[in-house]
Amino acid sequence: MNRNYLIIGNPVEHSLSPKIHNFWFNKNNINATYKKETLSESKLENLVKRIKEGDISGANVTVPFKQKIIPFIDKLSNLAKKTQSVNTLYKENDLVIGDNTDVYGFSQSILNKNINLKNKDALIVGAGGVVPSVITALEDLSIRKIYIKNRTKEKLLKLKETFANISPLEWDHEIDCDIVINATSLGLKPDDQINLNFDNLKNKIIFYDTIYNPPVTNFLKNAKEKGHVIINGKLMLLLQAQKAFEIWTGINPKIDEKFLNYLND
Ligand code: ATR
Repeated sequence: MNRNYLIIGNPVEHSLSPKIHNFWFNKNNINATYKKETLSESKLENLVKRIKEGDISGANVTVPFKQKIIPFIDKLSNLAKKTQSVNTLYKENDLVIGDNTDVYGFSQSILNKNINLKNKDALIVGAGGVVPSVITALEDLSIRKIYIKNRTKEKLLKLKETFANISPLEWDHEIDCDIVINATSLGLKPDDQINLNFDNLKNKIIFYDTIYNPPVTNFLKNAKEKGHVIINGKLMLLLQAQKAFEIWTGINPKIDEKFLNYLND
């Protein structure tokens, strides 16, 4: 029997997830299809019902529904609970489970690059949907300090209620750190610039953008010109997908040269 998987979001047209998962289904001789579906918020409850009834075997959830889906789910994994962010759904013992593989995606992307963040300091820019996953991953990597700044201050204070260890900064406060992470949506458009000054950093550090399209945002371009190491969000995307695939199928699919070439076609 053919199994159906979905990514739901709005917008979702440009999602790479169908291309990723269909490749892995094929490669592993699994009779399954992964499609994208643009949903409105009012259809979230129904989506969970479709999983419960077996019409859909699993789903990924993307913006703006990672938190909004939570009230309709039977059970959350510990990571989903902690981050209040669900990106993977599946059924177990007749219950629809909400899980979070973004935390794995972020932490594993750092480990894959052979970066050690133990006792290092991070600065996160932004306080949106992906940030609880980034904070949790940084904590798992034994980071020392997490500085964070955001245009709207209230959101930082809200985050601080859940993640007491983070250190909110004023937008203009310059700080030395070992990694800066752009977790805002600034950079999706070619002209987007983040009006922060990184000219006074003492060392060459890592600039990480959670955005993967465009592959080099202005945030990364400026950092590269100054000799810093840059990482975009592509690896995180692939690794969160890898973990979701493993949850659904029990198979840990390879992210090898052939796969990366196929994605770049
Ligand atoms: P959401 O906030 O709904 O989760 P998101 O795309 O996950 O949406 O997050 C958007 C992030 O980009 C936020 O941190 C947002 O800052 P605000 O909290 O002040 O809105 C940030 N962002 C978006 N446009 C921005 C801009 N022009 N300047 C600075 N930050 C911006």
